[in-house]
Amino acid sequence: MKIFVSRDAAARSVGADAVATAIADQARAAGIDLTLVRTGSRGMLWLEPLVEVETASGRVAYGPVQAADVASLFAAGFVAGAAHPLGHGLTEQMPWMARQQRLSFARVGVIDPLSLDDYRAHGGCAGLARARTLSADALLQQIVDSGLRGRGGAGFPAGIKWRTVAHAPGPRKYIVCNADEGDSGTFADRMLIEGDPYALIEGMLIAGLAVGASRGVVYLRSEYPQAIATLRSALARARHDGLLGGEFDIDLRIGAGAYICGEETSLLESVEGRRGQVRAKPPLPAHRGLFGRPTVVNNVLTLAAVPWILQHGAQAYADFGMGRSRGSMPVQLAGNIRHGGLFECAFGMTLRELVEDIGGGTLSGRPLRAVQVGGPLGAYFPDSLLDTPLDYEAMAAAGGLLGHAGIVVFDDTVDLAKQARFAFEFCALESCGKCTPCRIGSTRGAETLDKVIKGIEPERHIELVRDLCMVMTDASLCALGGLTPIPVLSALEHFREDFGPRAAI
Ligand SMILES: Cc1cc2nc3c(=O)[nH]c(=O)nc-3n(C[C@H](O)[C@H](O)[C@H](O)COP(=O)(O)O)c2cc1C
Ligand code: SF4
Repeated sequence: MKIFVSRDAAARSVGADAVATAIADQARAAGIDLTLVRTGSRGMLWLEPLVEVETASGRVAYGPVQAADVASLFAAGFVAGAAHPLGHGLTEQMPWMARQQRLSFARVGVIDPLSLDDYRAHGGCAGLARARTLSADALLQQIVDSGLRGRGGAGFPAGIKWRTVAHAPGPRKYIVCNADEGDSGTFADRMLIEGDPYALIEGMLIAGLAVGASRGVVYLRSEYPQAIATLRSALARARHDGLLGGEFDIDLRIGAGAYICGEETSLLESVEGRRGQVRAKPPLPAHRGLFGRPTVVNNVLTLAAVPWILQHGAQAYADFGMGRSRGSMPVQLAGNIRHGGLFECAFGMTLRELVEDIGGGTLSGRPLRAVQVGGPLGAYFPDSLLDTPLDYEAMAAAGGLLGHAGIVVFDDTVDLAKQARFAFEFCALESCGKCTPCRIGSTRGAETLDKVIKGIEPERHIELVRDLCMVMTDASLCALGGLTPIPVLSALEHFREDFGPRAAI
């Protein structure tokens, strides 16, 4: 008899540990012999702590369960999957689960994240085994053919980046995993590391084989203690198992929480022990990256998609998606939303389907007014743009960006002038200070929007903000300063009414 309770940080924050303890205590008292497995999260965050029970027809879900509910669950016979007011039937048949294409997250919420036996029993290491049968060129071609693009923000084709590193001269190369995950409303990197860390390790091993690197680094943010502990244990176990330590090994570096350290060149500075400040490009990290060596820098989700691609074939991955956006994207639904969480789907679903059908609309029950897609540098979309499909090009054509696919929902109480001001303020706080448009422009932008909000010559000051945005877009050294105008200008374009007398009251 097996019972599964998540050990994901989101589940623990709402009492999963107490629930697990209560289940173990109650089983002992009732003389029931059961195995309690702590898994990652299925991603239905509104149902955490979620408890699942193994039955002959599949796992049956109950949630959200509190420790005080455990006695009644036992009384109802939940260990055999019996009905209970907190029951949801078979997990795989719940609409949230059934509508997904869980490729990268297939094992998350299913296996014990630290058990290599569990990992292998669920297809783990099959991609690596296939990769070992291919030449480096054939392996690179698989990644190119899969159409995999970087999931960290810019959507750059992973195969082209890997090929550049593979062909760069030099005896030592690196694979760097960007797990800084600084975007607002995003948590997929964390959930993947907490729920299936060997998938990331396997992805990095395959990348090492493809480009000829023997060393990897994971740069993980300090705000993620659970992910740090899980990855640390997974690395130690992988070394003990022999998976790591021979041809390839991975170091774990902990960032101190600066948004700019998610930008790849700042990240490299930080790993090298310096202050996280952006490096001018060229040279690209693929030519001169960590310690001046050719370096692949990829997001957690990019690397974690690789084992699936090798296991099932490039074409199988490319069969999902639309246009030039191939495969699946782990979308994160957050903010004022009824059903928030992790939803992995093929590219092509619209924002409306995700926010309304899957997410159930606003948590407050008030009308939805805006969604911000792609983190703090993403656009604010009004209702009229919600039919935009999840696709890199379609999002750009709508004036936004997909980024790391965090979707933050706002109801009609939001003030978009204040949100636009916040974009400047955020940029001012997080700017690395290297270039003037961003360092000075962000502060001047916040001051000028303050005048608009106070009703001081709003038309003239809005024009000044537009002018400033043009300078920041054109002249910033990196995308922090360069993209801050996106939330500001999208707010102005779609929610102009917030930048007038209403805001002055
Ligand atoms: C200000 C800023 C912050 C960024 N933060 C992250 C981050 O937290 N995680 C990430 O993977 N990429 C981040 N990026 C993108 C990285 O610079 C880089 O493009 C990415 O790590 C490449 O990996 P990918 O091709 O797999 O997406 C950021 C970029 C900028 C400009
Ligand atoms: S745009 Fe901002 S964060 Fe980027 S290099 Fe310039 S000052 Fe630094």
